[in-house]
Amino acid sequence: MSADVWPVHALCNSADLIDGGEAVLFDVQYGGQTCLGFAVRFQGQVVAYVNRCAHVAMEMDWRPGQFFDETRQWLMCATHGALYQPLDGLCVAGPCRGKRLLGIEAFERDGVVMWREAHNLKAVVF
Ligand code: FES
Repeated sequence: MSADVWPVHALCNSADLIDGGEAVLFDVQYGGQTCLGFAVRFQGQVVAYVNRCAHVAMEMDWRPGQFFDETRQWLMCATHGALYQPLDGLCVAGPCRGKRLLGIEAFERDGVVMWREAHNLKAVVF
């Protein structure tokens, strides 16, 4: 199946994501398990990841939706302090240096943030 045929879902309004600010959280099914995804804006760009540290499979936010460190330059894991580059999810400091967060395709269309399912990432249907 080509990547562009996976279903796309509206997540929030573009204005809801402030640069370097709080994330919008959403439910995803990853590898058959329900977990959280998150979307943030950095340097104007919207990015999204599964909320699961590359070190230990734990959620990373300090409090729900708070992923940026105090400099607002890095996504930081609250457990052991790994620092990730916001735009590509690469860990540049900490116990999982060199590993990456699991990315979720996200983009904006007409003022709405959207995310796209993938072979191992599905929307949660209630
Ligand atoms: S669980 Fe994230 S740095 Fe250890």
